[in-house]
Amino acid sequence: MDSEPRVEIRDYSEAALRTVTSLPPGVVHLWWRSLEEPEREVQDCFALLSRDEQDRASRFRVDDARKNFILTRGTLRRLLAAYLREKPDELSFGLTKYGKPFLDGPPNAHFNDVRFNVSHAEGLALLGFARQREIGVDVERIRPELDTWKLAERFFSAHERSALKNLSGEELHSAFFRCWSRKEAYIKARGEGLSLPLSQFDVSIAPNESHALVATRPDATEAGRWVVRDLATTREYAAACAFSLKPEI
Ligand SMILES: CC(C)(COP(=O)(O)OP(=O)(O)OC[C@H]1O[C@@H](n2cnc3c(N)ncnc32)[C@H](O)[C@@H]1OP(=O)(O)O)[C@@H](O)C(=O)NCCC(=O)NCCS
Repeated sequence: MDSEPRVEIRDYSEAALRTVTSLPPGVVHLWWRSLEEPEREVQDCFALLSRDEQDRASRFRVDDARKNFILTRGTLRRLLAAYLREKPDELSFGLTKYGKPFLDGPPNAHFNDVRFNVSHAEGLALLGFARQREIGVDVERIRPELDTWKLAERFFSAHERSALKNLSGEELHSAFFRCWSRKEAYIKARGEGLSLPLSQFDVSIAPNESHALVATRPDATEAGRWVVRDLATTREYAAACAFSLKPEI
């Protein structure tokens, strides 16, 4: 039986960044990062980005989306650089064929096993880091105006839809977004995007779950290889993280 890593959650700030020392294999580090920052901080983060990232940032048509990308990517660079004792602007990233970013330079022994994932919602980002195991994170702003039933019909499994059926009003909305963020965290940890069908696994919709992945198909043993865990947030957001139990050495 593989032992479960300890999850440590922190709020990002300049002072907190200075306390980063290492990322031991037995822990998962999660960082909350406000995206409501002054222009000065956006510019500081922009300066850390590669030319490609800066070009990508300039192609965003919506100001908030551009700001979210710049702040999240700049913060990702700062945190990775602190863990690896490198310079934030000297890191480089590759993309898997499904678009999941990974570290691919500069050459350094630590790079082989550091994994990360980020998520940004309106006003808030979540960044997750682990060694020797895949990780996925998701934060969603709870939007009461969404037609939850229509989306559940399209994206959720029969098990999840049937659990939601007994709820209404605010309770239904919270449960819907809990379910959504858990499913997203899991597919982001797996890194296969929507080529992993959303109907082929079930998450629970109950609050405060530390093991929310309840079934996987067609391989039922897959559910035992991953942890999908709720993260406490304010009432405006739902968030979850997922990571593989078994270290890949
Ligand atoms: C690509 C995807 C990660 C988009 O997620 P999202 O909820 O729009 O956005 P998030 O803010 O949570 O995550 C975006 C980050 O995930 C990372 N990412 C991109 N592709 C990824 C992949 N295949 N696997 C893991 N992470 C990925 C990137 O770092 C990206 O940030 P960046 O664009 O700033 O570099 C993917 O999960 C997706 O397409 N989801 C479809 C949404 C959907 O239909 N969900 C059904 C609800 S259950």
